[in-house]
Amino acid sequence: MENSINEADKYLIGNYARYPIAFERGEGVYLYDTKGKRYLDMLAGIAVNTLGHSHPKLTEAICNQAKKVLHTSNLFHILPQIEVAKILVENSLKDGKVFFCNSGAEANETAIKLVRKYFYDKNQPEKYEIITFTGGFHGRTIGSLTATAQPKYHEGFKPLLAGIKYAEFNNIESLKNAITENTAGIMFELIQGEGGVNPIDNSFLEEIKNIARENELLIVIDEVQTGIGRTGKFFTYQHYDLEPDIITSAKGLGGGIPVGAVIAKEKIAKSFTPGTHGSTFGGNFLAMVASKVVLEEITKKGFLNEVLEKGIYLQESLKSIGLKPKGKGLMVGVDLEDNLDAKEISKKCLENGLIIGTAGKNTLRFVPPLIINKKEIDEGIEILKEVLK
Ligand SMILES: Cc1ncc(COP(=O)(O)O)c(C=O)c1O
Repeated sequence: MENSINEADKYLIGNYARYPIAFERGEGVYLYDTKGKRYLDMLAGIAVNTLGHSHPKLTEAICNQAKKVLHTSNLFHILPQIEVAKILVENSLKDGKVFFCNSGAEANETAIKLVRKYFYDKNQPEKYEIITFTGGFHGRTIGSLTATAQPKYHEGFKPLLAGIKYAEFNNIESLKNAITENTAGIMFELIQGEGGVNPIDNSFLEEIKNIARENELLIVIDEVQTGIGRTGKFFTYQHYDLEPDIITSAKGLGGGIPVGAVIAKEKIAKSFTPGTHGSTFGGNFLAMVASKVVLEEITKKGFLNEVLEKGIYLQESLKSIGLKPKGKGLMVGVDLEDNLDAKEISKKCLENGLIIGTAGKNTLRFVPPLIINKKEIDEGIEILKEVLK
């Protein structure tokens, strides 16, 4: 196994700076590497493993489905799609409709196309511009990359997609200045994940709502990282007095099986007529049976309240070791002082059997499986405390 790690550079494109660790198996909130060392996973594959590792119901659903059929394409009905879409809609936009794809970037790409098509169909093709915010992250495809208003990700990939404009996050004047007669929509995260776990200001959100209403703009909420129970609500927008027009989802939805989804209000969804958009793998059997298990688990009575409670516990525990946490539910960040380097700290944690992430300029990121318990949180905090010493 060690030999195969050494061969990574020979055969794999070098776009990731991987740690010299390969995991072999996981159980609950723990991962085990090829040497048998155990790690407490408070990163969950970057906010993906909603139910932890090897969750019995998820494993069973995937195995059973694999024995029947994996893929048939969207030329035919895939019945579990309807079940998953129903759960998504019943827990979000009441007249919503769902499109399935394979990733967060693809979901956001779809949302960008849907906004354009909606206004095109309304005989307003001049309304095509989408405003996004500095510090946001929406993916790596050229459209979602353009929507990601962070120059470091753009370097070397220009020209970017036309029709995306940037405003400063949490700056009302900047947003007002970006609006033109071409503006069609505003797309953003309510808590910027990759940007450093930065929550939106309530006053800024209120202004977005006013501006959207006055200018007939669509509000697209990127819930790729914040959705599927991550912050203690089904979607994070449900913490606010907000009704989005389009929601994008991915990451935690499949609990580890790649899947993405776009939920759009009926009047917008209807612009995607046959042939206008598609995805070969989108919503295939495997992805759907996995998503169904995840959604059934997180909608069980009390589950989301527990996420909220455990999130508060995590934040209190971080405070008890002198840190200043931010975020909601089990999406928590800690900005470090300049004398501490988040990447170094996360590396040291790893050596000590704790997986945490980093984000933004110098932020530690905690996005554990939603099934983590308080004892496991204590264990993580203990390791972090030792590392910080
Ligand atoms: C908010 C947000 N949107 C979109 C994406 C892109 O998702 P994916 O990597 O599945 O394409 C991410 C990934 O980190 C994200 O955090």
